[in-house]
Amino acid sequence: MSEAEPRVYTKEERRDIMNRMQAGDMTVSNKEVADAFSIDASADPKDIPLDQMNPAHPSLFKHDTFWGHFERLRKEDPVHFTEESVFGPYWSITRYEDIMHVDKNHEIFSSKQSLGGITLNGVKGRDDEFALPMFIQDDPPKHDAQRKVVAPMFTPKNLQDLEPLIRERAGDILDNLPRGEEINLVREVSVELTGQMLATLFDVPQEDRMKLVHWSDTVASLGDPDAFDSPEEGFQILFECLAYFQEYYEARKKEPPAFNLVSMLAHDEATSDMGPQELLGNIILLIVGGNDTTRNSISGGVLALNRNPDQYEKLLQNPGLIPKMVPEIIRWQTPLAHMARTCVQDTEVGGKQIKEGDRVAMWYISGNRDESYIKNADQFIIDRDNPRMHTAFGYGIHRCVGNRLAEMQLRVVWEEIMQRFSRVEVTGDPEYVPSSFVHGIRELPVVFHE
Ligand code: HEM
Repeated sequence: MSEAEPRVYTKEERRDIMNRMQAGDMTVSNKEVADAFSIDASADPKDIPLDQMNPAHPSLFKHDTFWGHFERLRKEDPVHFTEESVFGPYWSITRYEDIMHVDKNHEIFSSKQSLGGITLNGVKGRDDEFALPMFIQDDPPKHDAQRKVVAPMFTPKNLQDLEPLIRERAGDILDNLPRGEEINLVREVSVELTGQMLATLFDVPQEDRMKLVHWSDTVASLGDPDAFDSPEEGFQILFECLAYFQEYYEARKKEPPAFNLVSMLAHDEATSDMGPQELLGNIILLIVGGNDTTRNSISGGVLALNRNPDQYEKLLQNPGLIPKMVPEIIRWQTPLAHMARTCVQDTEVGGKQIKEGDRVAMWYISGNRDESYIKNADQFIIDRDNPRMHTAFGYGIHRCVGNRLAEMQLRVVWEEIMQRFSRVEVTGDPEYVPSSFVHGIRELPVVFHE
């Protein structure tokens, strides 16, 4: 065996690593975990024994090869149990209607962080210390009370007031792009625009917007061996985020209430005496919630239009289709591939018995391609009927609170792109994020044509 070849681990060795992690052993490194549980991401899903299918493996997302895995599961085993994975055992819910069922029954499927939280990422035990309390990872009544605090930020009235500012900023970013030269769309447009939006919502200086983006990216890559040796290493960076926002939080408490997220948290009794962990958790929620998702919808839309030139032509002929195209882009990209829950009582989904304590992943990315619910689900159609009928924002009490803001921002970006450019051409392959939670694009080479 050459040195470059990864070592092959036995089932017993993998079990041992999992046991160590579950016992809270902090010496297990991200690399050891990634090597022990590695898979061949290019394998044809039809050749994998059904009981060994493991659609949550980050490699499948890095290589964009997960689609066939979900297609097979939707057909052959729509509620599927994976016994051994880098995240421990979990169920996969892959059909639209089953996803809605789980998402709507929050009294059976809990979001509580102490039970496992809302992503498969991390292993209970080793990663407990890095799991932050935040309202998305909670159940009623606390979830409801804290969500209410920030919800006014996203009302139609406020979005209307925000729109001219977002339009002006989008225009500035686009006006400053080089014409006819290859650039990375993600860095130059998607990240820039969402960074500016976040700084506005938090009312922190625009010069600090890249700090917010950096913290959000850190959260998304805590378990990535290419980014950090251990989650602990990544977490050190998040303490900077805490220190930054703690100062604002304390200062806002002493000022009259104002219309920004930090002031809202500082003045409502449901959130005004949060300890450091909970403050960091809720800030991270609002940063990550708005950052990766909108960013990847912008990049994903450019990619989708280039891969479907007939749809790009349709858009060029009729820019009035933009408001219908936006939810189609969000369905097509599905920026959050899954949300997870923990079952708190024995129940049944799609004929399968799910036990109290089991971890369950709702695969929004699969529900959005479910042909039995969405007509021509595998096609990108910018003027489809009912474009809002998709799973990407979730359902029930946790349904995305920022969904209208995300849609408005995407609409504005496309309106401004259409005003200025004859075409945005994708000139190379996308590089994908190695995560089965954030379905993201890290790099997308494009040329903006005058
Ligand atoms: C295309 C863009 C977006 C997508 C696809 C998206 C997706 C989601 C999803 C799937 C959930 C969880 C739903 C569930 O568990 O049932 C969620 C919740 C949430 N999102 Fe978004 N989101 C987007 C944009 C935003 C923006 C712009 C913000 C704010 C700046 C935001 C803030 C939140 C928050 C705070 C929650 C937690 C809601 C709760 O637990 O009650 N999101 N989002």
